[in-house]
Amino acid sequence: MSMSIEISFSKTAKVSGGLVVALGSLAEPVSASARSMDPAGQLDKAVKVAGFTGKLFSTADIIAPVDAPADRIALVGAGEPGKLTAHEWMRIGGKMVALIRKAEKMVVLLGDDTAVSPEAAADMALGLLMRAYSFDLYKTKKSEDDENGARKLAVVFQHEDAAACKKAFASRQAVADGVKLARDLVNEPANVLGPVEFAARAKELEALGVEVEILTEKEMKKLKMEALLGVSLGSVRPPRLAIMKWQGGKPKDKPLAFVGKGVVFDTGGISIKPAAGMEDMKGDMGGAAAVTGLMHTLAARKAKVNVIGIIGLVENMPDGAAQRPGDIVRSMSGQTIEIINTDAEGRLVLCDALTYCQDRFKPEIMINLATLTGAVMVALGQHHAGLFSNDDKLSEALSKAGEVTQERVWRLPLDPAYDKMIDSKFADMKNTGGRYAGSITAAQFLKRFVGDTPWAHLDIAGTAMGSPSTDINQSWASGFGVRLLDELVRANYEG
Ligand code: BES
Ligand code: MN
Ligand code: ZN
Repeated sequence: MSMSIEISFSKTAKVSGGLVVALGSLAEPVSASARSMDPAGQLDKAVKVAGFTGKLFSTADIIAPVDAPADRIALVGAGEPGKLTAHEWMRIGGKMVALIRKAEKMVVLLGDDTAVSPEAAADMALGLLMRAYSFDLYKTKKSEDDENGARKLAVVFQHEDAAACKKAFASRQAVADGVKLARDLVNEPANVLGPVEFAARAKELEALGVEVEILTEKEMKKLKMEALLGVSLGSVRPPRLAIMKWQGGKPKDKPLAFVGKGVVFDTGGISIKPAAGMEDMKGDMGGAAAVTGLMHTLAARKAKVNVIGIIGLVENMPDGAAQRPGDIVRSMSGQTIEIINTDAEGRLVLCDALTYCQDRFKPEIMINLATLTGAVMVALGQHHAGLFSNDDKLSEALSKAGEVTQERVWRLPLDPAYDKMIDSKFADMKNTGGRYAGSITAAQFLKRFVGDTPWAHLDIAGTAMGSPSTDINQSWASGFGVRLLDELVRANYEG
């Protein structure tokens, strides 16, 4: 069950009852902070019995000594705290969530530990929030025995420099909120979140100062987006294109552009998918969700950069009006496409969104995200997203951001030999390239629509949903891409 968590930072956190968490290191498993909770000096024995050595990511949960001001004292191992990365601090924050159980208040003591910088404290808080996320909108029975019953929890981080912690946390709160938005959108079922409803969620970003335009079917017809519209033909729910604009930079600076695949449900269309696991295709808008979450984060933290987010929202259904294999459509770019398989629909949505993005905004860089191919999971599993790019510098910046955030990407090749695989007998290209190299031929297809714009394509089919739980995510939807791209923007484009 979900918790609504309120994070605060304080120099002097008064403890009376509740849960107290202290960090332990290999050098000092029971820190001075922990000792301050133990007037009778009983902790060392308890910690020893619990087998806690301060090892990184280990925990110990101890009933507090009778005369202690807290009810429970929990320790989280930080190993060698001077050496930890931001992501490792986040994971430590995540570990704390498993310790909460029935506590109503949690105080995290960082006071005497100089290795814990304000940034590290803020990273712990971010990791804690991300781990505590759960999507239970549709559970009507809040189970008694669920150890984290739906409720409010106050978490106080006690730190010498609480003001600096608070300042460092402000941008992390924006990240936590953007990730939450992306996860919510992916977890939401398709009967609730159609193209129109998704567009309305994007529109809500106006509250943060994002300009949002929504194009209707009629407007897209006028723009000749026949590739995108073709995917939508079988659905009774009309498509939308949402354009989100954040102007945090100088007015005449070229924007960065992020484009997302937003197939709210992918049945495969006439080339219908097998039944097993098809329910997962409610998450086929993971690219659009990441772009929307990213726009939320950038606006909420007032990023000093101009950014455009564009998401193509459609539903791919089989129907009397649906498009067929063999059909030929003319994309907005003028290039014609022979539809071989109606299940290769993401590239059809993206190609028109990419063309529109370049024609209208002339972006400095353009990055698209899409749950594009099952083949990317065959190649990389669920631990890396596939990265394709026509620009080495952008590709390296993305890889670096991936290492920092641990939303990792792995570059795969683009090459004329693969491009040839999508030549068509009847049109300029076909929408599938055969059995081999499915992720690469999908990327080659997109590349035909990006011209000279420095561009990257992230295939997030394996990482956006259903990926293994981690210390900072226990939900089906991961929100993959929000932290990766926020870091890319922060490290490379904000002055
Ligand atoms: N949305 C799917 C890709 C996908 C599969 C995402 C599994 C997440 C999990 C995409 O539209 C698709 O169906 N791709 C086909 C392409 C094929 C027809 C060339 C695929 O991967 O099989
Ligand atoms: Mn498909
Ligand atoms: Zn799809």
